[in-house]
Order: sequence, then C-alpha cells, then structure tokens
Amino acid sequence: MEEKDLKQLVAAMSLEEKALQLTQFPVYEWEGHASAVVTGMSNYGNISCDDLWKSGTTLNAPDGETVLSVRRRRREKGIDDPFLVMFDVIHGYRTIYPVPVAMACSFHTELIEDCACLAATEAKYDGVDLTFSPMVDLVRDARWGRVMESGGEDPYWSGEVGKAMIRGYHRGGIACCVKHFAGYGAAEAGREYNTTDISERNLREYYLPTYRACLEEDPEMFMSSFNLLNGKPILGHKEIVVDLLRKEWGFDGVLISDYGAVDEMRNHGYCATGKECARVAIESGLDIEMASPDYVRYLPELIREGTISEEKVDECVLRVLKLKNKLGMYEAPERYTDLKKRDEVTLSEEARVLVRRAAEESCVLLKNNGALPLKEEENIALIGPFADSKEIIGTWQAMGRCEESVSVKEGVEHLLGREVPCAGGCSGMLFSGDESAIEDAVKLASRADHIIACVGEHMSNSGEAHARADIRITKVQRKLIERLYTLRKKLTLVVFGGRPLVLSDVEKYADAILYVWQPGTEGGNAIANLLYGKAVPCGKTVMSFPRSTGQCPVYYNCFATGRPRKNDLPTMLGGDSWTTGYDDECNSPLYPFGHGLSYAKFEYEELRLSRETLARGGKLTARVKVKNVGSVDGTEIVQWYLHDEFASVVRPLKELKGYERIFLKAGEEKEISFTITEETLKYYTDSGEYAAETGAFEVFVGGNSRDCLKAGFQLVDGE
Ligand code: NOJ
Repeated sequence: MEEKDLKQLVAAMSLEEKALQLTQFPVYEWEGHASAVVTGMSNYGNISCDDLWKSGTTLNAPDGETVLSVRRRRREKGIDDPFLVMFDVIHGYRTIYPVPVAMACSFHTELIEDCACLAATEAKYDGVDLTFSPMVDLVRDARWGRVMESGGEDPYWSGEVGKAMIRGYHRGGIACCVKHFAGYGAAEAGREYNTTDISERNLREYYLPTYRACLEEDPEMFMSSFNLLNGKPILGHKEIVVDLLRKEWGFDGVLISDYGAVDEMRNHGYCATGKECARVAIESGLDIEMASPDYVRYLPELIREGTISEEKVDECVLRVLKLKNKLGMYEAPERYTDLKKRDEVTLSEEARVLVRRAAEESCVLLKNNGALPLKEEENIALIGPFADSKEIIGTWQAMGRCEESVSVKEGVEHLLGREVPCAGGCSGMLFSGDESAIEDAVKLASRADHIIACVGEHMSNSGEAHARADIRITKVQRKLIERLYTLRKKLTLVVFGGRPLVLSDVEKYADAILYVWQPGTEGGNAIANLLYGKAVPCGKTVMSFPRSTGQCPVYYNCFATGRPRKNDLPTMLGGDSWTTGYDDECNSPLYPFGHGLSYAKFEYEELRLSRETLARGGKLTARVKVKNVGSVDGTEIVQWYLHDEFASVVRPLKELKGYERIFLKAGEEKEISFTITEETLKYYTDSGEYAAETGAFEVFVGGNSRDCLKAGFQLVDGE
C-alpha cells in the first residue's frame, strides 16, 4: 500500500480505534484464557474485553491455532485491520539454542545469524510476525538475572551480536525489536527493575552504542525500558526518546513500551494518574503501550479536551500501520502462518544439528590441567543435579520444551554406546538444601576414576525477575563438590548458569571446568562431544567471572585509578595498602573477559606495527603470528584491544576493537593483521566531540583480555 492509502486508513478511524491500535495486551486477556482471571481486564476498570478485539497487535499468542482463530473471529466481527502478533523469541522457538550470553561467547556472527534465522522460521509458521529481540543492554553486573539475554560486557561486541541476530530474524522472515532502550542493564546492585544512574558520558560511550549499532540492520521496533534513568522514567526522557532516538539517530520505526511500564510511571512517583502516564508517553513519541490501559482509557479524552493533538496520535498510528504494510499484511494478513509447514520445520534434524553446533561453539573451557578431553575407555561417573536433567534449555524458551532436550547423561551414553553410572546427589535449585543424597552419590563416584560433576544454576534462577544477591553455586552443591574432591579422583566440573557464577569456592578442587551456560535442546550431545574431544572448545567468555559477589560489577574495560595496586592481592594478604582494592579480595576477576581454553594450544608471537606514528587520515597495520603449538586442531578467537594512554577524558585500560576467528591445524601458524585508522581511535572527547586525540596509544593482542602482547604508537597531526 502507498503511504497515502495508509493515511486514509488512519483518517477513517475513530479516536477510540486509534487508541486501540496503540494498545497491546496478550490475546488471552480477551480470549477468555484461564490467565484472564489473574491478570485480566477486571483490573483495568472501564475497558471491556469486547473493545480489545480492535487492538492492532498482540503479544504472546500461545500458538498458530490461536492466531488463526483470533484473526478469523476479528474478521467475523467486521474488523479488517491486519492483526500483528509479537512474541519473545529469544534463543530459539521450539528448537532451543544456548542463551544469548552463551551464543555471544562463540564470537561467531554467522552462527548467531543462522540460529536466529532458524528461530524465525519456526516462529513465523506458528503465527509470529515480530520478536522482542535482540536485547542489547550492556551488562556489567552478574547479579542481574538478565545477563543471560545479553551480549555481555563489551559494547562493541554486544552490538555485533545484536546485529547478527537482526540479520537472522529478517532472513527467517520475522520482524524484530531492539530492547530495552536505554540502560536497563545498569540496574543498581544488579537488582531487577532497579534504578539506573548513568552519566551522559557513560551513556554515550558504553550503554548507547549497542542500540545504535543495531540500527545498521534496520530493525522494525525499539522497546523502551522499565528503569528510572537519572531520576526520570525512560518515557519521561524526551531528550533520549525523541531527540536522540528519533531525531539524532533517525529511527522511524515503532516504539513500544515494556510490559505495564507506562502505568508504572505512577509507581515511580513520576505521574499522579493514569491519564498523566498516557500524556507523558504520547509526548515522548511512544507508539504502542504494552499491557497497561492508559492509552485506551485516556487518549480520546486527552485529544477531545485539547491536551494533546490528534496529529501526534495519528503519527503513532501511522507508524504501526506502516509496519504492517512493510510486513505485507495488507496483501497477506496471515503472513506465513501455516500449521502444516510449522509441523514440517519444527524441531527438524537439521535444526538439532545447528543448535548442537551452537552449543559446542559457545561453551567455555575455563580451566584444564589435562583432564580433558576424556578418553572413551575412562571409567567415569556423572554426578550432580544437572547430570541427568533436561531442565537445561534456559529461560525465555518460547515454545521450547525441556522434555525434548538431551541431558548430559543421554549425550554421554549415546556417544559411548554404553550406560554410565549417574547420581544427582542434591537439587540444583536455590533454597533446596537437602544433603541426604550426597553420600550415595559420593559412594557411586568412588568407583570411578574420573568424576564429571554437573553443577551450577538451575535455568529458573536466571532471566527476568531473577536477580541474585549471592551468585555462588549453592551451599549444598559446594558440599557435594568438596566431598567428591576428598575421593582424590580426577574431577571435572560441567557448570550450568545463566550468568557467570562465582566459582572461587570450587575451582580449586577441579582439574577442569567446562562452563556450559544454558545450552539448549541439544545441550547434552554438545557437552558429550566437547568432553570427549569430538568437538574442540573455542568459546571465550563475554563477561568477566567475579571472584566473589562483592566484586560485582567487575568488567575489563574499566579505568585506571590514581592509586593502582601492583600485585593484585587483598590487603590482608600483602596487597599494597592505600592503593585501590579490597582487604579481603583481589581486584582481578577469576577469569577475565575473552578467556577460554582449547584442546589446541595457541601461542602469540612478534606483534609488529607497520609504523610508529599514525597520521590522521592514514592507516597503521598491526601484525601478529599465532601458532597452534598443541597436537589438536582448533579455533582461536584473536582479540585486538586498544588503550589511549592520555586523553582529555580518562580512557579505559583496554577496549576491544576487533577480533578474528581463526582455525589452525596442529603445528600451523598464521599471521593475523589488524588495521588501525583515526576512526578506530575516536571517542567522545571532553568537548563532547566524537574525535581522536593526538598522543600515545597502546595496542594489545591476545587470546583473552588479560594475557596480551603489547606495542605502542602515536597519533600525530602531520605526516
Ligand atoms: C517484559 C520484558 O522486560 C521484555 O523483555 C519482554 O519483551 C516483555 N515483557 C514481553 O514479554
């Protein structure tokens, strides 16, 4: 349809119809689904379920059957407006791949894109038109439950991950929504839905670039966040939503609120009434209000009394109609919804192969003193709450079903072709401290030579609304691990988690640690392949692993202080006093950003720069030799970091600026290069300009953010 036709559609709508076009509730709110009793419209006063049939969009329709039936019933009621269905497809639809933070550890954008494409393909035939993904909130605090949905602590990489996801969704045939704009990941103390306070500089440099990067891939929608930012709810920040997102960045797609967030401005103490919430939101250019009723209740009244202009609302409605038009819904209102095709593509063998590979590439081998890979003839026992668990697919699993996933036990037994002794020992859930099964598990383990302990965090303890104040492995699991250690056998930990857990209490007992996050439907097969060397680990962590919860937030791209501590020891263990640090903890994380081992062994040599000075407009090439000195072929993620030594504003100690994923056969060596231009060195200077300042820079290269080779150059004004 032409834009003028869409405008005519808007012009023909009543004020009530316009408000409903901008109102989104889950279909079960008016479909008479059981949940209506709990969250239903009775809570919302004067809106009847009948009205809601005219909403222009919905979220969380349970399946394609419901989508088709709702669309049919709307037509029967004479509503011919296309009905757009949105859903949280976060890491797979029915075939589930690892949680996003894990996918990010693969440093493999094509793989991330392919997985997103798979999710979109399964989703679109089941009636989904748009996913509320990617979430590109920058995260630094592992206490926050939603780090599992993120691309980690680095703004550049997190943006790249988001971009790859968008490309995949588009290729698969659904639209997508970048969220949560802006700064939700900075929730104070990692506490869910908590306040954020982020300086203008911090926002521009660290929190905003991830969202902005996503714009390069043309996402259809942005979602505003729940958090209060610097004293105002996001929708109260016209300077961010209107001036920055719309005007400066030129985003002309749809802006949707998060669930109930418009009306929550009353709880924040920012708006006194629902009517005021509606006014504030519309003035910030919010198009769709999700799951609260202020638009539908008050927009017509606000227009009639002249508080807001009808044109303002028309602009929002037009944006929603344009989205429907972009998706072809005026010509094909069902889009791809096709139950037969859905059943053909869902959970196919091909899909399983892809998500298995994704899990293999995203697990991170944190430690290995040679215990891994296992030999098939080794006498092992699988112990721990996640050894025979299918609850390993991660939250936000869309239509994924735990019972369709592969447990570690199943994966290992399938690989070996024989049964393997297995015992849970205890529960993996928080607050479940029953120790009574530990001794039986220890007894069974005592007959093995190598114990594989599958421990960590249950999938229901991370994700939205699952912040934790203590991110250690639970006490009962720590006890299990200690008891297993006393057997003096080889001990490998396979650790599940939606966040980097604090492993300090247990890592000392382990010969090897494979961090498998929440690995998805094919988790058990992937883990078995990694344990037995059928696949070689290559994931690199995108979040620093804290040594203790009290270290949070700990992240690699931090600033130097005026009193750096040289020896990285706690003061009480000899750390230089009166320097930055703790009495009782080191400053460094247990495992740094970018860390991850392989069965191959990589050595970096001869970092050389093509010149010692870089003129503005010129370029400089850094080269390094990477050699696989091990006896196994493997993939390495070569990481390039920069440091601006002195600047008008203090710069982070290291910033990831590039990476290369290379495959090296045993004994093979490759020269890797990285081009640096003035552009690479730019940042928001003290005067607010995005520019590079002359002076000294350090360039680092390595297999993680800590152990790097280093060289230096100068940016100069002349030749
Ligand atoms: C709340 C979450 O914050 C958001 O990420 C999600 O997309 C919406 N609910 C819809 O389910």
